[in-house]
Amino acid sequence: MLQRMLAHIWLVLALSLLGPVLGLTPLSDESLRNIPIAGSDFDIKTGSILAPILIPRVPGTPGSRQVQQHFVDWFATHLPKWSITYQNSTGKTPATGDKQVPFVNIIITRDPPWAKPGDVGRLALVAHYDSKLDPPGFIGAIDSAAPCAMIMHAARSVDEALTKKWAAMEAEGSHGLEEEKGLQILLLDGEEAFVSWSDTDSLYGARSLADAWEYEFHPALSTYQNPLDSISLFVLLDLLGSARPKVPSYFKTTHWAYQHMALIESRMRTMGLLASASDADHPFLPEYDKGPNAFHSTFGIQDDHLPFMARGVEILHIIPSPFPQVWHTSNDDGEHLDMATVEDWARILTAFVSEWMELDEHLDQTIGPGKAKRSVPTSKSEL
Ligand SMILES: *[C@@H]1O[C@H](CO)[C@@H](O)[C@H](O)[C@H]1NC(C)=O
Ligand SMILES: [Zn+2]
Repeated sequence: MLQRMLAHIWLVLALSLLGPVLGLTPLSDESLRNIPIAGSDFDIKTGSILAPILIPRVPGTPGSRQVQQHFVDWFATHLPKWSITYQNSTGKTPATGDKQVPFVNIIITRDPPWAKPGDVGRLALVAHYDSKLDPPGFIGAIDSAAPCAMIMHAARSVDEALTKKWAAMEAEGSHGLEEEKGLQILLLDGEEAFVSWSDTDSLYGARSLADAWEYEFHPALSTYQNPLDSISLFVLLDLLGSARPKVPSYFKTTHWAYQHMALIESRMRTMGLLASASDADHPFLPEYDKGPNAFHSTFGIQDDHLPFMARGVEILHIIPSPFPQVWHTSNDDGEHLDMATVEDWARILTAFVSEWMELDEHLDQTIGPGKAKRSVPTSKSEL
């Protein structure tokens, strides 16, 4: 344990020294403590973020339109600086015969106010919002209502800090000098198979979006050629919200990003900031030390990243292996979520986004509605 702790401290120090060179500096302990919880907004019956998603939302049904409206209304109300667009398509499915089923991807973006869209490299936070046709009444709480809610919480929790950071850059005239960094949320439709998973019966929304973006060119002389090229990292969340998840590091080329997230988790646990039952021996992200020769699969688990990965987008896939027990059963509903785990993922994600967007000095007590759980001040005594 002591050895693990020393290794951990060494890593934090090493990363603080290397961080600026690599472009990502770990958040301070103070900022980690100030990452808010979602609290009552994640209530499964009344929560303003999560509850409205916990209904059947099969593509093309009224439930689907209701959840789309929830996302759009929520962002328009709480995060008006984010721009919302749709990418729509239709397709036939093996369950619906000749009918054209509509698939509606929702794209929510926040870029630096001065930047041209083609010049912004974006961290994309991705989850699917559709639910499975079968079993009847299927809710899909971990699959993927809770991941959508985590992303919404993260966006809200960094919104104010982004405003402050960009205003400060404009005030001091340092804007436009470096690479432009933005945030993008992709809420994808039609991930689930209608009958049984195949290349054509799955990923309806993701396939359509990746294809559309491949041919949507930015103006000449833009830094990035098209919206796929603009994605610096595609963070896909899926099947999160059951207790004791174990998420491996799937891809060698993004293992560095996995390590950043794993280090956030381990620091937050050490500081007593996480609520879930996991402990230092059962982290959500256990593969910090995975060696370069231990990555075997090319595309990982089949999910919404596939059409993007096939086009060269870098992927961080946050999905447990093995899958949670409730997966694709009628038990995957709000009541079976482990709320401590849901909150912890939301906070780990928020910290990861904050680190990516370099918000350290702009994160303060004013963010979000839920106050960070106060912890004993252990950080300094560790050293
Ligand atoms: C896409 O579909 C949504 C939801 O049905 C609709 O509100 C929107 O206007 C459509 N957008 C485009 C660009 O067709
Ligand atoms: Zn599923």
